Amino acid sequence: MSNQAKLELDGKTYTLPTLTGSENEKAVDVSALRASTGYITIDDGYGNTGSCVSNVTFIDGDQGILRYRGIPIEELAEKSNFVETAHLIIYGELPNRAQLKKFSDLLTDNQYLHEDMKFHFEGFPTGAHPMAILSAMINASSCFDEDLMRWQWGKNKQFDVYVARLISQVRTIAAYSYRKSKGLPLIYPKQSYKYTENFLHMLFSMPYEDFVLKPEVVKALDLIFLLHADHEQNCSTSTVRMVASSQANLFASCAAGVCALWGPLHGGANQAVIEMLQQIHREGDDGSKFITAAKDKNSGKKLMGFGHRVYKNYDPRAKIIKKACDEVLSKLHIDDPLLDIAKKLEEAALKDSYFVERKLYPNVDFYSGIIMRAIGIPVEMFTVIFAIGRMPGWIANYKEIMEEPKSRIYRPRQIYTGRTLNHYVPVAERK
Ligand code: SDX
Repeated sequence: MSNQAKLELDGKTYTLPTLTGSENEKAVDVSALRASTGYITIDDGYGNTGSCVSNVTFIDGDQGILRYRGIPIEELAEKSNFVETAHLIIYGELPNRAQLKKFSDLLTDNQYLHEDMKFHFEGFPTGAHPMAILSAMINASSCFDEDLMRWQWGKNKQFDVYVARLISQVRTIAAYSYRKSKGLPLIYPKQSYKYTENFLHMLFSMPYEDFVLKPEVVKALDLIFLLHADHEQNCSTSTVRMVASSQANLFASCAAGVCALWGPLHGGANQAVIEMLQQIHREGDDGSKFITAAKDKNSGKKLMGFGHRVYKNYDPRAKIIKKACDEVLSKLHIDDPLLDIAKKLEEAALKDSYFVERKLYPNVDFYSGIIMRAIGIPVEMFTVIFAIGRMPGWIANYKEIMEEPKSRIYRPRQIYTGRTLNHYVPVAERK
Protein backbone atom coordinates (compact mmCIF):
# COMPACT_ATOMS: atom_id res chain seq x y z
CA MET A 1 0.00 0.00 0.00
CA SER A 2 1.44 3.38 -1.07
CA ASN A 3 2.76 5.37 1.84
CA GLN A 4 2.06 8.61 0.01
CA ALA A 5 -0.99 10.90 0.13
CA LYS A 6 -2.43 12.37 -3.04
CA LEU A 7 -3.80 15.91 -3.04
CA GLU A 8 -5.84 17.41 -5.85
CA LEU A 9 -5.48 21.22 -5.95
CA ASP A 10 -6.43 23.61 -8.75
CA GLY A 11 -6.47 20.72 -11.26
CA LYS A 12 -3.06 19.45 -10.23
CA THR A 13 -2.23 16.30 -8.27
CA TYR A 14 0.42 16.42 -5.60
CA THR A 15 1.86 13.54 -3.64
CA LEU A 16 2.76 14.08 0.01
CA PRO A 17 4.86 11.70 2.09
CA THR A 18 3.27 10.03 5.11
CA LEU A 19 4.81 8.60 8.26
CA THR A 20 3.73 5.91 10.71
CA GLY A 21 4.71 5.85 14.38
CA SER A 22 5.68 2.85 16.51
CA GLU A 23 2.04 2.53 17.65
CA ASN A 24 0.78 2.75 14.07
CA GLU A 25 -0.34 6.40 14.31
CA LYS A 26 -0.27 7.91 10.87
CA ALA A 27 0.48 11.42 9.58
CA VAL A 28 0.66 13.24 6.28
CA ASP A 29 3.91 15.22 6.18
CA VAL A 30 2.99 18.70 4.88
CA SER A 31 6.48 20.21 5.44
CA ALA A 32 6.79 20.90 1.72
CA LEU A 33 3.13 21.79 1.08
CA ARG A 34 3.51 25.58 0.82
CA ALA A 35 6.62 25.42 -1.33
CA SER A 36 5.02 23.01 -3.78
CA THR A 37 1.38 24.19 -3.78
CA GLY A 38 1.30 27.71 -2.29
CA TYR A 39 -1.26 26.42 0.20
CA ILE A 40 -0.88 26.07 3.97
CA THR A 41 -3.07 24.00 6.30
CA ILE A 42 -5.40 25.53 8.89
CA ASP A 43 -6.39 23.48 11.96
CA ASP A 44 -8.36 25.24 14.69
CA GLY A 45 -6.85 24.32 18.07
CA TYR A 46 -4.31 22.05 16.36
CA GLY A 47 -6.69 19.10 16.85
CA ASN A 48 -5.35 17.35 13.72
CA THR A 49 -1.81 18.74 13.66
CA GLY A 50 1.29 16.97 14.93
CA SER A 51 4.03 19.42 15.97
CA CYS A 52 6.72 16.77 16.39
CA VAL A 53 7.62 13.13 16.70
CA SER A 54 8.37 12.10 20.28
CA ASN A 55 9.55 9.01 22.17
CA VAL A 56 8.32 10.05 25.61
CA THR A 57 4.59 9.38 26.07
CA PHE A 58 1.94 7.48 24.14
CA ILE A 59 -1.78 8.13 24.51
CA ASP A 60 -4.56 6.23 22.77
CA GLY A 61 -7.60 8.42 23.42
CA ASP A 62 -10.13 5.90 22.12
CA GLN A 63 -8.79 3.04 24.25
CA GLY A 64 -7.96 5.22 27.26
CA ILE A 65 -4.29 4.17 27.14
CA LEU A 66 -1.43 6.21 28.67
CA ARG A 67 2.17 4.94 28.72
CA TYR A 68 5.37 6.71 29.81
CA ARG A 69 8.24 5.34 27.66
CA GLY A 70 6.00 2.34 26.89
CA ILE A 71 5.14 1.49 30.51
CA PRO A 72 1.37 1.67 31.27
CA ILE A 73 0.40 4.35 33.78
CA GLU A 74 -1.45 1.70 35.81
CA GLU A 75 1.79 -0.25 36.42
CA LEU A 76 3.78 2.84 37.34
CA ALA A 77 1.02 4.07 39.66
CA GLU A 78 1.01 0.73 41.46
CA LYS A 79 4.74 -0.06 41.55
CA SER A 80 6.79 3.10 41.03
CA ASN A 81 7.13 6.54 42.61
CA PHE A 82 7.45 10.08 41.31
CA VAL A 83 11.25 10.42 41.39
CA GLU A 84 11.84 7.07 39.66
CA THR A 85 9.15 7.88 37.07
CA ALA A 86 10.68 11.32 36.51
CA HIS A 87 13.98 9.60 35.65
CA LEU A 88 12.14 7.23 33.28
CA ILE A 89 10.41 10.12 31.49
CA ILE A 90 13.50 12.33 31.20
CA TYR A 91 16.22 9.75 30.51
CA GLY A 92 14.13 7.03 28.84
CA GLU A 93 14.75 4.21 31.30
CA LEU A 94 13.81 3.23 34.83
CA PRO A 95 17.02 3.96 36.82
CA ASN A 96 19.14 1.13 38.22
CA ARG A 97 20.25 1.50 41.84
CA ALA A 98 23.33 3.56 41.01
CA GLN A 99 21.42 5.85 38.62
CA LEU A 100 18.60 6.30 41.16
CA LYS A 101 21.08 7.22 43.90
CA LYS A 102 22.85 9.71 41.62
CA PHE A 103 19.55 11.28 40.56
CA SER A 104 18.22 11.43 44.15
CA ASP A 105 21.49 12.92 45.40
CA LEU A 106 21.35 15.57 42.64
CA LEU A 107 17.80 16.44 43.72
CA THR A 108 18.91 16.75 47.35
CA ASP A 109 22.03 18.78 46.48
CA ASN A 110 19.96 21.22 44.42
CA GLN A 111 16.94 21.76 46.60
CA TYR A 112 17.91 25.06 48.25
CA LEU A 113 17.16 28.39 46.65
CA HIS A 114 19.76 31.18 46.69
CA GLU A 115 19.18 33.02 49.98
CA ASP A 116 18.59 36.30 48.14
CA MET A 117 15.52 34.71 46.51
CA LYS A 118 13.72 35.48 49.78
CA PHE A 119 13.69 39.16 48.84
CA HIS A 120 11.76 38.31 45.69
CA PHE A 121 9.10 36.56 47.77
CA GLU A 122 8.81 39.72 49.87
CA GLY A 123 7.81 41.62 46.74
CA PHE A 124 4.55 39.70 46.18
CA PRO A 125 1.32 41.01 47.70
CA THR A 126 -0.43 38.70 50.16
CA GLY A 127 -2.97 36.69 48.18
CA ALA A 128 -0.90 36.66 44.98
CA HIS A 129 -1.83 33.47 43.11
CA PRO A 130 0.88 30.81 43.64
CA MET A 131 0.96 30.07 39.88
CA ALA A 132 1.98 33.69 39.21
CA ILE A 133 4.66 33.40 41.89
CA LEU A 134 5.84 30.02 40.61
CA SER A 135 6.36 31.16 37.03
CA ALA A 136 8.09 34.39 38.11
CA MET A 137 10.33 32.66 40.66
CA ILE A 138 11.50 29.94 38.27
CA ASN A 139 12.90 32.70 36.07
CA ALA A 140 14.14 34.67 39.09
CA SER A 141 16.00 31.60 40.35
CA SER A 142 17.80 31.26 37.01
CA CYS A 143 19.18 34.80 37.40
CA PHE A 144 21.46 33.53 40.17
CA ASP A 145 23.25 31.20 37.77
CA GLU A 146 25.64 32.59 35.18
CA ASP A 147 25.55 29.48 32.97
CA LEU A 148 21.77 29.72 32.73
CA MET A 149 22.05 33.38 31.81
CA ARG A 150 24.53 32.52 29.06
CA TRP A 151 22.78 29.25 28.06
CA GLN A 152 24.85 27.14 25.67
CA TRP A 153 22.05 25.39 23.73
CA GLY A 154 22.94 21.72 23.41
CA LYS A 155 26.44 22.23 24.81
CA ASN A 156 25.68 22.57 28.49
CA LYS A 157 27.79 19.98 30.33
CA GLN A 158 25.79 20.64 33.52
CA PHE A 159 22.41 19.90 31.90
CA ASP A 160 21.64 17.07 34.34
CA VAL A 161 22.33 19.42 37.25
CA TYR A 162 19.86 21.93 35.83
CA VAL A 163 17.30 19.15 35.37
CA ALA A 164 17.63 18.19 39.04
CA ARG A 165 17.72 21.81 40.15
CA LEU A 166 14.49 22.63 38.34
CA ILE A 167 12.63 19.55 39.62
CA SER A 168 13.88 20.17 43.14
CA GLN A 169 13.51 23.93 43.29
CA VAL A 170 10.01 24.00 41.79
CA ARG A 171 8.93 22.15 44.92
CA THR A 172 10.80 24.56 47.24
CA ILE A 173 9.44 27.63 45.42
CA ALA A 174 5.91 26.21 45.61
CA ALA A 175 6.17 25.59 49.34
CA TYR A 176 7.67 29.04 49.97
CA SER A 177 4.91 30.73 47.93
CA TYR A 178 2.28 28.98 50.05
CA ARG A 179 4.01 29.93 53.33
CA LYS A 180 4.39 33.54 52.13
CA SER A 181 0.72 33.72 51.18
CA LYS A 182 -0.20 32.66 54.75
CA GLY A 183 2.32 34.95 56.43
CA LEU A 184 4.15 31.89 57.83
CA PRO A 185 7.93 31.51 58.27
CA LEU A 186 9.68 29.76 55.36
CA ILE A 187 10.66 26.17 56.20
CA TYR A 188 13.88 24.83 54.69
CA PRO A 189 14.03 21.36 53.11
CA LYS A 190 15.51 18.58 55.23
CA GLN A 191 18.48 16.63 53.81
CA SER A 192 17.10 13.38 55.21
CA TYR A 193 13.63 13.66 53.65
CA LYS A 194 12.72 12.26 50.23
CA TYR A 195 11.14 14.41 47.52
CA THR A 196 7.45 14.34 48.43
CA GLU A 197 8.05 14.13 52.20
CA ASN A 198 10.16 17.26 51.97
CA PHE A 199 7.43 19.12 50.13
CA LEU A 200 4.87 18.32 52.83
CA HIS A 201 7.46 19.26 55.48
CA MET A 202 8.12 22.65 53.83
CA LEU A 203 4.37 23.24 53.40
CA PHE A 204 3.02 22.30 56.78
CA SER A 205 5.65 21.93 59.51
CA MET A 206 6.26 24.71 62.01
CA PRO A 207 9.56 25.73 63.57
CA TYR A 208 10.38 23.96 66.86
CA GLU A 209 7.52 21.45 66.47
CA ASP A 210 7.81 17.83 65.37
CA PHE A 211 6.00 17.42 62.10
CA VAL A 212 4.25 14.08 61.65
CA LEU A 213 4.43 12.75 58.11
CA LYS A 214 1.50 10.39 57.52
CA PRO A 215 2.62 7.64 55.08
CA GLU A 216 -0.81 7.57 53.40
CA VAL A 217 -0.58 11.33 52.76
CA VAL A 218 2.95 11.06 51.34
CA LYS A 219 1.88 8.15 49.12
CA ALA A 220 -1.24 9.95 47.87
CA LEU A 221 0.63 13.14 46.95
CA ASP A 222 3.45 11.16 45.32
CA LEU A 223 0.82 9.35 43.23
CA ILE A 224 -0.70 12.70 42.16
CA PHE A 225 2.75 13.92 41.06
CA LEU A 226 3.39 10.66 39.17
CA LEU A 227 0.04 10.73 37.36
CA HIS A 228 0.69 14.28 36.14
CA ALA A 229 4.29 13.69 35.06
CA ASP A 230 3.72 13.85 31.30
CA HIS A 231 0.93 13.80 28.75
CA GLU A 232 2.41 14.22 25.23
CA GLN A 233 1.71 17.48 23.37
CA ASN A 234 -0.83 19.13 25.71
CA CYS A 235 -1.15 22.93 25.80
CA SER A 236 1.58 23.58 28.38
CA THR A 237 4.06 21.04 26.99
CA SER A 238 3.56 22.49 23.52
CA THR A 239 4.25 25.91 25.06
CA VAL A 240 7.50 24.60 26.55
CA ARG A 241 8.47 23.23 23.12
CA MET A 242 7.51 26.51 21.45
CA VAL A 243 9.77 28.53 23.78
CA ALA A 244 12.54 25.90 23.69
CA SER A 245 12.53 25.99 19.89
CA SER A 246 13.98 29.52 20.08
CA GLN A 247 16.84 27.98 22.12
CA ALA A 248 15.76 29.78 25.30
CA ASN A 249 17.14 28.19 28.46
CA LEU A 250 15.44 25.33 30.32
CA PHE A 251 14.10 27.48 33.19
CA ALA A 252 12.59 30.13 30.86
CA SER A 253 10.88 27.44 28.77
CA CYS A 254 9.36 25.69 31.81
CA ALA A 255 8.32 29.01 33.37
CA ALA A 256 6.27 29.57 30.19
CA GLY A 257 4.76 26.10 30.66
CA VAL A 258 3.56 27.16 34.12
CA CYS A 259 1.67 30.08 32.60
CA ALA A 260 -0.03 27.91 29.97
CA LEU A 261 -0.96 25.30 32.58
CA TRP A 262 -2.70 27.92 34.76
CA GLY A 263 -5.70 28.33 32.45
CA PRO A 264 -9.00 26.76 33.69
CA LEU A 265 -9.35 24.75 30.47
CA HIS A 266 -6.02 23.07 31.28
CA GLY A 267 -4.28 22.60 34.62
CA GLY A 268 -6.40 25.26 36.31
CA ALA A 269 -9.36 22.88 35.96
CA ASN A 270 -8.50 21.06 39.21
CA GLN A 271 -9.11 24.28 41.16
CA ALA A 272 -12.24 25.02 39.06
CA VAL A 273 -13.65 21.53 39.80
CA ILE A 274 -13.54 22.06 43.56
CA GLU A 275 -15.03 25.54 43.21
CA MET A 276 -17.80 23.99 41.05
CA LEU A 277 -18.47 21.22 43.62
CA GLN A 278 -18.50 23.77 46.46
CA GLN A 279 -21.03 25.89 44.56
CA ILE A 280 -23.25 22.85 43.96
CA HIS A 281 -22.97 21.90 47.65
CA ARG A 282 -23.68 25.48 48.80
CA GLU A 283 -26.79 25.69 46.64
CA GLY A 284 -28.08 22.33 47.86
CA ASP A 285 -28.19 21.20 44.24
CA ASP A 286 -28.03 17.43 43.72
CA GLY A 287 -26.01 18.18 40.60
CA SER A 288 -28.90 18.07 38.15
CA LYS A 289 -29.25 21.88 38.06
CA PHE A 290 -25.57 22.29 37.32
CA ILE A 291 -25.57 19.60 34.64
CA THR A 292 -28.49 21.33 32.92
CA ALA A 293 -26.50 24.57 32.96
CA ALA A 294 -23.34 22.85 31.69
CA LYS A 295 -25.26 21.63 28.65
CA ASP A 296 -26.55 25.12 27.91
CA LYS A 297 -24.00 27.01 25.79
CA ASN A 298 -25.42 30.33 27.01
CA SER A 299 -24.88 29.51 30.68
CA GLY A 300 -21.13 30.08 30.48
CA LYS A 301 -20.78 26.96 32.61
CA LYS A 302 -18.94 23.72 31.82
CA LEU A 303 -18.76 20.50 33.80
CA MET A 304 -15.20 21.15 34.91
CA GLY A 305 -13.00 18.05 35.05
CA PHE A 306 -14.99 16.53 32.20
CA GLY A 307 -14.00 16.20 28.56
CA HIS A 308 -10.64 15.95 26.85
CA ARG A 309 -9.18 16.75 23.42
CA VAL A 310 -7.60 13.29 23.14
CA TYR A 311 -9.46 10.94 25.52
CA LYS A 312 -12.82 9.98 24.05
CA ASN A 313 -12.96 7.36 26.76
CA TYR A 314 -12.35 7.42 30.50
CA ASP A 315 -9.01 9.16 31.31
CA PRO A 316 -7.00 6.29 32.85
CA ARG A 317 -5.55 8.72 35.39
CA ALA A 318 -9.06 9.67 36.57
CA LYS A 319 -9.83 5.98 37.22
CA ILE A 320 -6.69 5.62 39.36
CA ILE A 321 -7.33 8.87 41.25
CA LYS A 322 -10.99 8.01 41.88
CA LYS A 323 -9.91 4.70 43.48
CA ALA A 324 -7.21 6.49 45.50
CA CYS A 325 -9.81 9.01 46.69
CA ASP A 326 -11.82 6.30 48.42
CA GLU A 327 -8.66 4.75 49.95
CA VAL A 328 -7.14 8.01 51.22
CA LEU A 329 -10.39 9.42 52.63
CA SER A 330 -11.17 6.20 54.48
CA LYS A 331 -7.60 5.93 55.88
CA LEU A 332 -7.80 9.56 57.02
CA HIS A 333 -11.38 9.02 58.29
CA ILE A 334 -12.59 11.92 56.16
CA ASP A 335 -16.13 12.05 54.85
CA ASP A 336 -16.06 14.79 52.18
CA PRO A 337 -19.52 15.66 50.81
CA LEU A 338 -17.80 16.97 47.67
CA LEU A 339 -16.70 13.42 46.81
CA ASP A 340 -20.29 12.23 46.97
CA ILE A 341 -21.38 15.14 44.77
CA ALA A 342 -18.56 14.36 42.29
CA LYS A 343 -19.63 10.72 42.08
CA LYS A 344 -23.28 11.70 41.57
CA LEU A 345 -22.28 14.18 38.85
CA GLU A 346 -20.23 11.52 37.09
CA GLU A 347 -23.03 8.97 37.31
CA ALA A 348 -25.60 11.44 35.95
CA ALA A 349 -23.35 12.76 33.17
CA LEU A 350 -22.35 9.30 31.95
CA LYS A 351 -26.05 8.53 31.47
CA ASP A 352 -26.84 11.87 29.80
CA SER A 353 -26.93 11.83 25.99
CA TYR A 354 -25.28 15.28 25.80
CA PHE A 355 -22.11 13.94 27.41
CA VAL A 356 -22.36 10.45 25.89
CA GLU A 357 -22.74 11.75 22.32
CA ARG A 358 -19.76 14.10 22.78
CA LYS A 359 -17.71 11.36 24.49
CA LEU A 360 -17.15 13.51 27.55
CA TYR A 361 -15.69 11.55 30.46
CA PRO A 362 -13.97 12.54 33.72
CA ASN A 363 -10.39 13.66 33.12
CA VAL A 364 -7.41 13.80 35.47
CA ASP A 365 -8.72 16.96 37.14
CA PHE A 366 -12.16 15.65 38.15
CA TYR A 367 -11.16 13.81 41.32
CA SER A 368 -7.60 15.04 41.97
CA GLY A 369 -8.79 18.04 43.98
CA ILE A 370 -10.70 15.79 46.40
CA ILE A 371 -7.48 14.00 47.34
CA MET A 372 -5.55 17.27 47.62
CA ARG A 373 -8.25 18.69 49.89
CA ALA A 374 -8.09 15.56 52.02
CA ILE A 375 -4.32 15.86 52.51
CA GLY A 376 -4.62 19.54 53.35
CA ILE A 377 -3.39 21.18 50.16
CA PRO A 378 -5.18 24.55 49.83
CA VAL A 379 -7.26 24.89 46.64
CA GLU A 380 -5.18 27.78 45.30
CA MET A 381 -2.17 25.41 45.31
CA PHE A 382 -3.86 22.67 43.26
CA THR A 383 -2.50 23.79 39.89
CA VAL A 384 0.92 24.30 41.46
CA ILE A 385 0.83 20.61 42.44
CA PHE A 386 0.01 19.83 38.80
CA ALA A 387 3.02 21.95 37.70
CA ILE A 388 5.39 20.15 40.10
CA GLY A 389 4.14 16.82 38.72
CA ARG A 390 4.42 17.93 35.08
CA MET A 391 7.97 19.26 35.36
CA PRO A 392 9.62 15.96 34.25
CA GLY A 393 7.45 15.89 31.13
CA TRP A 394 8.27 19.48 30.25
CA ILE A 395 11.98 18.78 30.77
CA ALA A 396 11.84 15.59 28.67
CA ASN A 397 10.23 17.48 25.79
CA TYR A 398 12.77 20.31 26.12
CA LYS A 399 15.56 17.71 26.01
CA GLU A 400 14.07 16.09 22.89
CA ILE A 401 14.09 19.38 21.00
CA MET A 402 17.58 20.25 22.24
CA GLU A 403 18.94 16.85 21.17
CA GLU A 404 17.23 16.89 17.76
CA PRO A 405 19.96 18.05 15.30
CA LYS A 406 17.40 19.32 12.79
CA SER A 407 15.16 21.15 15.33
CA ARG A 408 13.85 24.45 13.96
CA ILE A 409 12.17 27.44 15.62
CA TYR A 410 8.39 26.96 15.83
CA ARG A 411 6.83 29.57 13.56
CA PRO A 412 3.29 28.70 12.37
CA ARG A 413 1.79 30.56 9.39
CA GLN A 414 -1.67 32.22 9.15
CA ILE A 415 -4.31 33.19 6.66
CA TYR A 416 -4.74 36.99 6.77
CA THR A 417 -8.37 38.10 6.72
CA GLY A 418 -7.90 41.78 7.56
CA ARG A 419 -8.10 44.90 5.40
CA THR A 420 -6.33 44.85 2.04
CA LEU A 421 -3.96 47.73 1.07
CA ASN A 422 -4.72 50.85 3.13
CA HIS A 423 -3.00 54.27 3.59
CA TYR A 424 -2.19 56.68 6.43
CA VAL A 425 -4.75 59.49 6.96
CA PRO A 426 -3.66 62.58 8.95
CA VAL A 427 -5.70 63.08 12.11
CA ALA A 428 -7.25 66.31 10.75
CA GLU A 429 -8.83 64.32 7.89
CA ARG A 430 -10.14 61.43 10.02
CA LYS A 431 -13.88 61.24 10.68
C1 SDX B 1 -6.10 18.80 31.17
O1 SDX B 1 -4.34 18.00 26.63
C2 SDX B 1 -4.08 17.36 27.71
O2 SDX B 1 -3.57 16.29 27.70
C3 SDX B 1 -4.48 18.08 29.00
C4 SDX B 1 -4.30 17.30 30.30
C5 SDX B 1 -2.84 17.05 30.60
O3 SDX B 1 -2.55 16.10 31.32
O4 SDX B 1 -2.00 17.88 30.18
O5 SDX B 1 -4.98 16.06 30.20
C6 SDX B 1 -4.85 18.06 31.49
O6 SDX B 1 -6.02 19.94 30.81
C7 SDX B 1 -7.41 18.08 31.25
C8 SDX B 1 -8.62 18.97 30.82
C9 SDX B 1 -8.99 19.89 31.98
N1 SDX B 1 -10.01 20.85 31.56
C10 SDX B 1 -11.29 20.75 31.97
O7 SDX B 1 -11.73 19.84 32.66
C11 SDX B 1 -12.19 21.90 31.53
C12 SDX B 1 -13.51 21.37 31.03
N2 SDX B 1 -13.28 20.65 29.77
C13 SDX B 1 -13.52 21.40 28.53
O8 SDX B 1 -13.21 22.75 28.60
C14 SDX B 1 -13.01 20.65 27.30
O9 SDX B 1 -13.51 19.38 27.38
C15 SDX B 1 -11.52 20.59 27.03
C16 SDX B 1 -10.89 21.92 27.06
C17 SDX B 1 -10.85 19.68 28.00
C18 SDX B 1 -11.36 19.99 25.62
O10 SDX B 1 -11.84 20.94 24.74
P1 SDX B 1 -11.98 20.62 23.16
O11 SDX B 1 -11.24 19.40 22.78
O12 SDX B 1 -11.68 21.90 22.43
O13 SDX B 1 -13.51 20.24 23.01
P2 SDX B 1 -14.65 21.25 22.64
O14 SDX B 1 -14.61 22.43 23.57
O15 SDX B 1 -14.62 21.50 21.17
O16 SDX B 1 -15.94 20.37 23.04
C19 SDX B 1 -16.63 19.57 22.10
C20 SDX B 1 -18.09 19.68 22.53
C21 SDX B 1 -18.60 21.12 22.55
O17 SDX B 1 -20.02 21.07 22.35
P3 SDX B 1 -20.59 21.23 20.82
O18 SDX B 1 -20.00 22.52 20.28
O19 SDX B 1 -20.14 20.00 20.10
O20 SDX B 1 -22.09 21.31 21.03
O21 SDX B 1 -18.24 19.20 23.89
C22 SDX B 1 -18.68 20.28 24.72
C23 SDX B 1 -18.37 21.56 23.97
O22 SDX B 1 -19.25 22.59 24.38
N3 SDX B 1 -17.89 20.18 25.97
C24 SDX B 1 -18.39 20.37 27.19
C25 SDX B 1 -17.33 20.12 28.07
N4 SDX B 1 -16.23 19.80 27.37
C26 SDX B 1 -16.58 19.84 26.07
N5 SDX B 1 -19.63 20.73 27.60
C27 SDX B 1 -19.80 20.84 28.95
N6 SDX B 1 -18.83 20.60 29.87
C28 SDX B 1 -17.58 20.26 29.46
N7 SDX B 1 -16.62 20.03 30.35
